[in-house]
Amino acid sequence: MEVKSNNITVERTKRSKIDQVDFDNLSFGSVFADHMLVCDYKNGEWGAPSVVPYQPIELEPSAKIFHYGQSIFEGMKAYKDDQGGVWLFRPEENQKRLNISAKRLAMPELPKEIFMEGLATLLQVDQEWIPQTKGSSLYIRPFMFASGNGFHASPADAYKFIIACAPSGPYFSGKVKVLIEERYSRAANGGVGFAKAGGNYAAQFYPTQLAVQKGYNQVIWTDDNTHEYIEEAGAMNIFVRINDTLITAPTNDRILDGITRKSILDIAADEGIETEVRKITVAEVINAAKDGSLKEMFGAGTAAVVSPISAFGYKEVDYNLPELDQSYAALLKKRITDIQYNRGDDKFGWRYRV
Ligand code: PLP
Ligand code: COI
Repeated sequence: MEVKSNNITVERTKRSKIDQVDFDNLSFGSVFADHMLVCDYKNGEWGAPSVVPYQPIELEPSAKIFHYGQSIFEGMKAYKDDQGGVWLFRPEENQKRLNISAKRLAMPELPKEIFMEGLATLLQVDQEWIPQTKGSSLYIRPFMFASGNGFHASPADAYKFIIACAPSGPYFSGKVKVLIEERYSRAANGGVGFAKAGGNYAAQFYPTQLAVQKGYNQVIWTDDNTHEYIEEAGAMNIFVRINDTLITAPTNDRILDGITRKSILDIAADEGIETEVRKITVAEVINAAKDGSLKEMFGAGTAAVVSPISAFGYKEVDYNLPELDQSYAALLKKRITDIQYNRGDDKFGWRYRV
């Protein structure tokens, strides 16, 4: 056992699995790095974090996570540049958002040092797991859940914070086709849609399965009240380009405040692209698709990066988007990934060296 200068203990695995991984053919989030960071909350305080071999977690059947769903997570990536340097993208934003989610789910907030130093220590230990192949990165999954026991429907008295990592390739393997939802809702006003709560994803699996059966990859959620406004997709925020204007919905109680989304808005403005953050009606998008002014739609998120949408469905009709030689999606994807992989200028100061 080693003790790092920040007092984080490290127990290294005796059998690394790294030789079993094909780094040239990585799927998304399906093989896991050798180690994980673990930190426990009990008796009203967080204990000392430690890095241990990636392993199963022991919980009692009465652990409240199983019954009342107190579970939140974050999604981040570590990028390796051509010289082997390791970078994160705006990690403090993830740290802040984890605590926004924690508060809404009546879970304890995690001190910033545990998140930041725990993450840096874990990445030092598992740095070999960060792929250098183009388009790949180490997907990082910080998460927290109720490990305390009891059937009483109230917040648990113990929690676990873990960071596990998965060397990953792109989230989508091909063109992305989405279905604009007209019946189901992912989130409601006053609910937990803005939090990165596990239950938000569970809530969308069934409607998404129905959409997948019809040939779509993701659902674009509309507002729960009228289903007339475009909100976000299952794993990414949505941008629409009408003529030369790039539009995205304002965040609200129901929409995750995506870090990629806000970065894209800043980069687009920096490129001189006209941007609008405003409500977008489904009718407006359909009309624009019909009259040809709808030039692009794309999703933005950590896993999805910038994912162009090739077609969308609504009320049993499919609308195809044109293939552009010079799309905003391609330009913005290049700008953001150049920052993430340390290939280009970081004028916003978003890159974070590990
Ligand atoms: N919306 C949802 C529902 C998501 O799961 C994600 C992914 O994290 C996003 C949006 C994009 O957020 P970010 O750019 O912070 O990854
Ligand atoms: C991410 O982009 O990090 C997410 O959390 C989306 C997830 C559903 C894969």
